[in-house]
Amino acid sequence: MPFRQFLLAAVIATVALPAVAADINARRLITDDCTGCHGNEVFSRQDRTVSSMPGLKARVRNCTAVAGADWSSNEMQAVVEYLNERYYDF
Ligand code: HEC
Repeated sequence: MPFRQFLLAAVIATVALPAVAADINARRLITDDCTGCHGNEVFSRQDRTVSSMPGLKARVRNCTAVAGADWSSNEMQAVVEYLNERYYDF
């Protein structure tokens, strides 16, 4: 690969990385801290209870507290966004 193309590829990879990292991070947080009481099936079941973005935020905050998970507000936000993108689509 010519050096200029290599540079361009490196820049694109660097710019694209944060979004991917946030995604992987959120999934790992859920796997690590959120599977004690329910699995991912509650996010997509037919009679799910969350019906709005504020509701999703509140639910994640409550569940983080009962799970005893020590998440930063950024981590909580990343999980809310991940769940919304993947399951809820508000
Ligand atoms: C101590 C037990 C417990 C843990 C640990 C837990 N949850 Fe929950 N979660 C619940 C219960 C109970 C419900 C409600 C289930 C129901 O309504 O039948 C629920 C429901 C939810 C819902 C709503 C699903 C719907 O109906 O739309 C979300 C979102 C959620 N949890 C996220 C999380 C996240 C994120 C974590 C990790 C921080 C987590 N939960 C860990 C107990 C827990």
